[in-house]
Order: sequence, then C-alpha cells, then structure tokens
Amino acid sequence: MSEAVLATTGLTRSFEQGGETIHVLRGVNLSIAPGEIVALLGPSGSGKSTLLQAVGLLEGGFGGSIRITGVEAAQMSSSERTATRRDMLGFIYQFHHLLPDFNAIENVVLPQLVKGTSRADADARASELLTTLGLGHRLTHRPSQLSGGEQQRVAVARALANRPALILADEPTGNLDEATAEIVFGEFLRLVRQEGSAAVVATHNERLAARMDRVLRLHDGHLS
Ligand SMILES: Nc1ncnc2c1ncn2[C@@H]1O[C@H](COP(=O)(O)OP(=O)(O)OP(=O)(O)O)[C@@H](O)[C@H]1O
Ligand SMILES: [Mg+2]
Repeated sequence: MSEAVLATTGLTRSFEQGGETIHVLRGVNLSIAPGEIVALLGPSGSGKSTLLQAVGLLEGGFGGSIRITGVEAAQMSSSERTATRRDMLGFIYQFHHLLPDFNAIENVVLPQLVKGTSRADADARASELLTTLGLGHRLTHRPSQLSGGEQQRVAVARALANRPALILADEPTGNLDEATAEIVFGEFLRLVRQEGSAAVVATHNERLAARMDRVLRLHDGHLS
C-alpha cells in the first residue's frame, strides 16, 4: 500500500475561552490515501474548520501527530512547514480569498512563481486549468468582475496550480446557490480526479458528500 498523504493520530485541539476550556478535537485519527477524495461532515461548531486548519499547518496549539506524506509536522522547521504548505497542499475556502488587484490568470500564476516555476510554464498551466474550468474567456477579469461561481473556479485552479498531493477545502461551494454549487462542485471533482490529488472537503451538503469516495463525520471531537 502506498503511503498516506495525510495521517493524524490522537489529534487534539482545545480553546481557552472566558476561563473555560473547550475541547474541540478529542483525539482524531484519520488516514487519506493518495488520490482519495473524502467528505468531512459534522454539525456547525463540531470542529471541521479547526481540523482543516490543523492539518493545513496553519497554526500550532495542537496535540497528537500530523503526518503529511509521512513527514511529522511537529518535526518540521518553520521553513519546512512553509515549503510543505506551498508544494504539497492546496487550499480552497468558502470565500475565495483571491487577490483583488490581480486578474484570474495572475491569481493562478502567482503561487507557481513563489514555488519557482518559470513565468511561461506558470502561464501555460494557469491558462490550461482555467480553460478546463470553463473560464477561457475570463482570463483577464479581476475577481470583482467575475460571478461568485467563476471566482470559486479561479480558487479551484489556484489550489491545484502547484500539483499538490492534497487539497484541503472548507465549504468550497458554501456561498453559492444550490444549482451553481452543484456545477462548480462537479467541475472541482472532475479536475481533482484528473490531476490525481487527494482532497478533504468540509461540507454541510449530504448530496455533495455522497459524490466523494468516503464520508467522515465529526461529532463530539471524534471522527466516525
Ligand atoms: N480561536 C478560537 N477561540 C475559541 N474558540 C474557538 C476558536 N476557533 C474555534 N473555536 C470553537 O471551536 C468550535 C469548532 O469551530 P469550527 O469553526 O472548527 O467549527 P465548524 O465545524 O467548522 O463549524 P461550521 O460548520 O459552522 O463552519 C466552535 O465551538 C468554536 O466556537
Ligand atoms: Mg467551518
């Protein structure tokens, strides 16, 4: 069996709030295989975003083990953590977080330039991804000149730009109307499968969850 792209063991996270300790993650064990697309379901406040932030190496304060392609996060230096986030992980959020002063293709080119890809190769990759997502005619539009669904497509292309082993998506179609969410999510799934990335996708939508390879449910700080 090939090595998991993501594995956690006994992952915990608590918050101190007004003299009280809230235990959000109480020992989460999960393992995501290369190319596997997994839904993360759970009631509001169950800790889905907290879990994605932990495995995205976005902040500290966690207990237990997180391994990204076999490498223990706690043993990474801060530059190794940055490189892992840049080269191995792709992020998609509910609100796109595109750079407002850059157009669609530039938003997809930039993370590639940060990684060291040549401008020509980055342009070609960005153009190909955006065209696959049906945005070939919107390459030079800025985020404010794009519809919500188009903005999320750009965010999908940006997340995949550096060919990450793992996509972490937090309600990626959560701010779209149902019909648009359905379409953008379908394109997301098709492209992620085509690219061979694994993905963990937090969602409240059972129907979208059923289209993924596996469903994980977060409840009382544990996964089932
Ligand atoms: N920085 C923080 N300080 C204190 N409590 C926090 C903090 N971040 C999150 N929490 C608490 O942790 C719990 C889990 O929050 P989280 O955002 O992970 O839930 P979620 O499952 O993503 O919910 P939703 O479906 O609404 O997005 C919540 O009760 C929240 O109030
Ligand atoms: Mg959340």
